[in-house]
Amino acid sequence: MDTSFDLTSLRDNVQHWKTAGRSIALVPTMGNLHEGHISLISRAREVAERTVVSIFVNPIQFGQGEDYDNYPSTLDEDQRKLERAGLDLIFAPNLNELYPAGIEKDTRVTVPALSDILCGEYRPGHFTGVATVVIKLLTNVQPDFALFGQKDYQQVQVIRRMVRDLLIPTEIIAMPIIREADGLAMSSRNSYLNGEQRKIAAIIFQTLNQASARLRTQSSQLSEIERDGDAALVQAGMQPEYFSIRRQDDLAPAVAGDQKLIILVAAWLGSARLIDNVQVELEQPLSARALH
Ligand code: PAJ
Repeated sequence: MDTSFDLTSLRDNVQHWKTAGRSIALVPTMGNLHEGHISLISRAREVAERTVVSIFVNPIQFGQGEDYDNYPSTLDEDQRKLERAGLDLIFAPNLNELYPAGIEKDTRVTVPALSDILCGEYRPGHFTGVATVVIKLLTNVQPDFALFGQKDYQQVQVIRRMVRDLLIPTEIIAMPIIREADGLAMSSRNSYLNGEQRKIAAIIFQTLNQASARLRTQSSQLSEIERDGDAALVQAGMQPEYFSIRRQDDLAPAVAGDQKLIILVAAWLGSARLIDNVQVELEQPLSARALH
């Protein structure tokens, strides 16, 4: 396994593989790897002959006062995990390599509308930061496939839209959420939780499952399910930003006739901002009664 710290070395490796006719997968990460990341890498190694993992904590996707400065950095440990996972190449650039113009003056890529709702409403500029760094990675690795986790469901939607709109010839693959034994979605940010908070955090997935069960029966209004979900998180000691039932394909509010829905949540617990979601496929199209 090699590690490239600069674009020249990354491009050399990629060129070498392309000349040999190898297919390439890219898994973008911010490091501090856990089983969620490893699941993407395992799948990448099944779909492509060569896999690149990028490790870069991208400053422009963090807002003022967010955890950029404290974001856990564990490159040595990550390298060992990736070696064990059978990875071909790590790309671990420094800030100047990806933002030679400086982060203030740099060109930005923005996916309209989708970037402003849900997490985008609470983290202005976040998805522009994500889209901008991901387009830099895609154009330099030129992968056949890029893999992302559905834990960040809105992020995957933003990237799909960008790739479609900018005609990038990479297939985006979205992978299921990997969870701890008690259901908490794995996340680098779970390390911000103390012992007590860690136990409370499992309530997020339980609340999502309760909401999902109610949604399936279509006996309650969506707004009521959302309100109760939000209240359950507050009751448990969290500060939810949203608890929202949306359509899977465009994340717009559900309308009568929809069948593929998703319940998404973002909530603060202590200093950790946690997100999660469950997809719900209704047996019968959503009735107008559940909406009003
Ligand atoms: P990061 O949070 O490191 O996540 C890297 C990838 O791992 C993302 O696609 C994320 O959805 C996926 N992932 C994280 N936790 C997961 C879990 N429990 N199950 C399955 N997949 C999981 O997301 C980012 O980094 C950044 O925004 C990035 C795309 C790298 C751009 O900077």
